[in-house]
Amino acid sequence: MLVVANWKAYVENLEKAERLVALSKRLSRAADNLIVLAPPAPFLGTFALKNKSKVAFSAQDVSKTPGGAVTGEATAQTYLSAGASYAIVGHSERRAAGDTDAVVAEKLAHALAADLTPILCVGERERDHDGRYLAFVREEIATALAALTPKERMRVIVAYEPLWAIGKTAESAISPDDLAEMVLYVRKVLSELLPGKNASRALVLYGGSVEPENVRDLARVASVDGFLIGHASVDEPMFASLVKELS
Ligand code: 13P
Repeated sequence: MLVVANWKAYVENLEKAERLVALSKRLSRAADNLIVLAPPAPFLGTFALKNKSKVAFSAQDVSKTPGGAVTGEATAQTYLSAGASYAIVGHSERRAAGDTDAVVAEKLAHALAADLTPILCVGERERDHDGRYLAFVREEIATALAALTPKERMRVIVAYEPLWAIGKTAESAISPDDLAEMVLYVRKVLSELLPGKNASRALVLYGGSVEPENVRDLARVASVDGFLIGHASVDEPMFASLVKELS
């Protein structure tokens, strides 16, 4: 299983970041799970460069620019150089801050050009009875991949993160049955966008209130390849028991 810890802006102090990195290294030694840490940018630079463990690092976002006179931006290339191997793109919290589908597509292209593995976040704000949310998710995936070559499309990891499930508790997360249905749907959409039979090989993750209490049931969904974890990834006991539940 791929476990991506999105620290968001929860971790603001180096000692806490150090403890979380050390914990992740211990956890990844004991289990088959691959832990990918997405710390705030300055901490990523601190830890990823000297990293010799199985833990990998991800940017939480990349600039939509290729660099130059753009104060405050961190480009995909910068993250690569600082030791990242993944980049989260299109997170709903970045979309809420102004990233349109077109911007997400640009960021995706920059991440791929810098040789980072992109984790493309998609997901509806709410569910309706007519199934319009399915068309919404399809559109998010299709516009993000539209300008990419078949080879590039195959490198994209899709994380299904419905907004209604983010930042709550295990009881509010998706049910295993609904997750199974949604992962199949994402793969169906990918089968129309990826060359040949590659949709079955694409990695599909789920994010939204994954906690130690629900992770094992969600992981039983055979077609899900891992999870994107927010608040539970910055609480040491919670993260430790979540990863242990997966082992
Ligand atoms: P929570 O796990 O806090 O719901 O956050 C999910 C998320 O947004 C991960 O990217």
